Amino acid sequence: MTTAVCPGSFDPFTLGHRYVVERAAACFDELVITVVVNPNKRGMFSVDERIALIREDCADLGNVRVDRWEGLLVDYLRQESIHTIVKGLRSAVDFDYEVPMAQMNRELADVETVFLLTDPRFAHVSSSLVKEVAKLGGDVSPFLSAHIHEHLARQLSGERSV
Ligand code: PNS
Repeated sequence: MTTAVCPGSFDPFTLGHRYVVERAAACFDELVITVVVNPNKRGMFSVDERIALIREDCADLGNVRVDRWEGLLVDYLRQESIHTIVKGLRSAVDFDYEVPMAQMNRELADVETVFLLTDPRFAHVSSSLVKEVAKLGGDVSPFLSAHIHEHLARQLSGERSV
């Protein structure tokens, strides 16, 4: 059985992520979306919220599951006996950022990183840009699933009322 890990912060999971996950799920028997916890970075959403949102977003993809990890990514792959990482690429900037990580991960644990291109519709979409635009009142509904958009709107209206 071929399994791959699609790691990321997913704060929040965007339609760009969803596009890459869908393509990756078609390439492997099983795909694990692993929410990587960065203890030094407080996200907009808790890790549990991110996981719940992704699970709901990917419920229609039968071979996709969602997990969490804190620490070195290759230790997660070792623990799970998985040898492949999948990353989405939006541009050459992403490629330049990803190549050293892919090389490091290969050296640390002999894991392969497979890159999948995103759809041009999502080439400008990142979680951080979506959060910035949303916080300043812009419409980010084209970049998120309806339920994640609702969740984000609720979160922001809660923040404004405190
Ligand atoms: O969505 P992001 O924030 O771009 O994802 C980056 C992530 C979490 C995949 C990357 O930072 C990572 O793999 N972190 C885990 C810690 C680790 O293994 N660092 C060394 C990478 S070579």
